[in-house]
Amino acid sequence: MRELQVNLRDRSYPIYIGEGILDEIASLFEKHDIRKASPLMIVTDEHVAPVYLDRITQSLMAGGYQVASYVVAAGERSKALSVLEDIIGAALDAGLDRSSAIVALGGGVVGDLAGFVAASYMRGIRFVQIPTTILAHDSSVGGKVAVNHPKAKNIIGAFHQPELVLYDTATLRTLPEREIRAGLSEMIKHGLIWDAEFTAWLDQHAEEILALEHDKLEYGLYMGCQVKAYVVSQDEKENDLRAILNLGHTIGHALEAVAGYNELLHGEAISIGMVGSAKLAVRMGRSVRIYTETKRILAKFGLPVRLPEHLDTDRIMKAMMHDKKFKEGRTVFVLPTEIGRVEINKQVPVEWVREVVEELKREA
Ligand SMILES: NC(=O)c1ccc[n+]([C@@H]2O[C@H](COP(=O)([O-])OP(=O)(O)OC[C@H]3O[C@@H](n4cnc5c(N)ncnc54)[C@H](O)[C@@H]3O)[C@@H](O)[C@H]2O)c1
Ligand SMILES: [Zn+2]
Repeated sequence: MRELQVNLRDRSYPIYIGEGILDEIASLFEKHDIRKASPLMIVTDEHVAPVYLDRITQSLMAGGYQVASYVVAAGERSKALSVLEDIIGAALDAGLDRSSAIVALGGGVVGDLAGFVAASYMRGIRFVQIPTTILAHDSSVGGKVAVNHPKAKNIIGAFHQPELVLYDTATLRTLPEREIRAGLSEMIKHGLIWDAEFTAWLDQHAEEILALEHDKLEYGLYMGCQVKAYVVSQDEKENDLRAILNLGHTIGHALEAVAGYNELLHGEAISIGMVGSAKLAVRMGRSVRIYTETKRILAKFGLPVRLPEHLDTDRIMKAMMHDKKFKEGRTVFVLPTEIGRVEINKQVPVEWVREVVEELKREA
């Protein structure tokens, strides 16, 4: 088992990562001040509940906890105010009070949703994350919690840090393969923005990681969480440094918006976006190796590096302009300067972005 600390002064918290740590859930809860006198509520989704909910509920009850649960439909659509309202109704019925905790058991959807319940119920109660996807190594660190509005994603939200995160790698074995690859896209991003050595390690161990080999997976998640935790601890509320976490996301978000949520998973969209950022970096004068290496590593993990041809370039550009202000023909992008380093570049010609989007449709 590995443990790392997210350093946020009085809101610091630990992340435990390891195979089988859910067997110790009750004692870890107790150690981190999750109260037994007040009921807690597990929020999960319909894919995760049949596999893990009973076992976790039993372990917690055996440790003296009173446990309620709420199961939402799987998928992004559950990040909605109507679902939040239903969960709060269930929390009231179950008698949750100011000393209670909300436990998110699932991927980023459940984490964001349950986290926002915890942030808003009685103006904020304790929160625990039990991530069950690889992508959630990203979403469970940093305290951003939110639901969507029909007009915009993640637009209703808060910063609410958990008391602890329990990452049991055994739960990842039931993940669909496509979700595994998509989650690894964010892990690769953490290497590309911050750590050349970790990126090389990912490259070297791609097969074992994809096969969910236990010690490799544990190390990869640990390092991914650590990069995110470090960046967030330097800049909790996204003033400056935290923006580097958006590598590949400007193009990626636009692709998600244009393709609709099923054609491209988030990790797949940002994989294409990271290739696009590398291409822009080369145009801005950086070594072509940044592009060839970024693309090669992503492809090695079975991630898409080519933009689906049928997605309309005008619509992609429009979605990007909606996402940020394109001023005087130039725009802001997170661009790699070498493998393991990025910069915030404010001088990227909008015309180049369009050309790169076109080029991405022809990637080999
Ligand atoms: N808060 C943040 O900082 C942050 C960062 C990145 C992403 N996010 C959010 O995360 C969400 C995406 O997260 P995600 O990719 O984990 O999606 P998800 O939560 O929808 O999970 C993906 C799919 O896998 C299923 N699943 C989850 N765990 C499983 C398991 N162990 N076995 C079998 N199936 C399982 C889910 O039911 C779902 O169908 C988005 O809403 C995004 O906005 C938030
Ligand atoms: Zn992301």
